[in-house]
Amino acid sequence: MISTKSPPFQRIYIAGHRGMVGAALCRALRGKADVITATRSELDLTDRQSVDRFFASEKPDAVIFAAAKVGGIVANNTYPVQFLAENATMAINAVSSAYEHSVKRFLFLGSTCIYPRDCPQPMREESLLTGPLEQTNEAYAIAKIAGLKLCQYYRRQYGVEYTSAMPTNLYGPGDNYHPENSHVLPALIRRFHEAMVEGAASVTIWGTGTPRREFLHVDDLAEGLVHLLGLTGLPDWLNIGTGKDLPILELARAIADVVGFKGEIHTDPTRPDGTPVKCTDVSRIHETGWHHQIELTDGLRQTYQCFLEEVGRGELRLV
Ligand SMILES: NC(=O)c1ccc[n+]([C@@H]2O[C@H](COP(=O)([O-])OP(=O)(O)OC[C@H]3O[C@@H](n4cnc5c(N)ncnc54)[C@H](OP(=O)(O)O)[C@@H]3O)[C@@H](O)[C@H]2O)c1
Repeated sequence: MISTKSPPFQRIYIAGHRGMVGAALCRALRGKADVITATRSELDLTDRQSVDRFFASEKPDAVIFAAAKVGGIVANNTYPVQFLAENATMAINAVSSAYEHSVKRFLFLGSTCIYPRDCPQPMREESLLTGPLEQTNEAYAIAKIAGLKLCQYYRRQYGVEYTSAMPTNLYGPGDNYHPENSHVLPALIRRFHEAMVEGAASVTIWGTGTPRREFLHVDDLAEGLVHLLGLTGLPDWLNIGTGKDLPILELARAIADVVGFKGEIHTDPTRPDGTPVKCTDVSRIHETGWHHQIELTDGLRQTYQCFLEEVGRGELRLV
């Protein structure tokens, strides 16, 4: 039973506030609560003693956990030990220390990679642990499943409101534009921008352009997470997305349009396509009263503007 009668949270710790999601959460909470943050050099979340000291001194009453070691396919595949160990350790430290320091509400962030590789589409929350995971990011997904399950077990065993949200692909200010490590949407923004600047006649995108993907603006995600923080009686985990997907070629055309690239767009079918469709079922989060607000074309325009500003300030993120 979902209820909007939640305890008022005065002090909210945003873990990972310098990341794309954490920064959007800080923007969304500005003026609404005391936001507590700590940089990685101030608080390494893999160090349990530091985490305990932080919770004891800062006394947050709610936590949104947007810290993670993240990376592209190559990094995930090459360093599975670090992706599993660091992410699982951070999650276990934060959730258990939060409980021991009387934190009332914990919102853990996962990702839709927790669902099986061949999961029926759109992906429903019930699909968790019903089949093998995608091999390339299995270590990361297992760490995320551990965090989600730990919240579920604390809730079951101790009755605390510790729950999780599973965002779809995100985009927006502060995204990563690394030439190899970035996700498809920021990678395309960068490619089309560079092609436009260089006056290139065409851009070739990998694969057939037919795989369908879903994208949520990070400010919509942040509003959704703040909304969830105000509710009790939620399911143990909820998808958060738009529930709308589009072919990668259509995304490329939309980005070319926003960037002002007038050349041709070619596909390269010799390159791998990946899963044909990936989209979340968002009926459960819609039942709580949240719906995304930023449609893709508007979101792309705003994100490209931010990209230009980040380039102008020399602050484009390349990790
Ligand atoms: N981006 C997406 O498309 C997407 C989609 C679905 C789900 N998510 C989930 O959303 C969450 C946040 O993602 P994001 O894109 O915002 O990632 P991000 O930009 O890489 O931010 C991650 C943050 O975690 C911090 N961090 C990493 N290791 C730490 C440690 N040992 N101690 C303290 N802080 C540490 C980083 O600190 P530094 O700044 O010091 O490195 C960074 O601020 C992740 O759980 C991710 O799985 C993201």
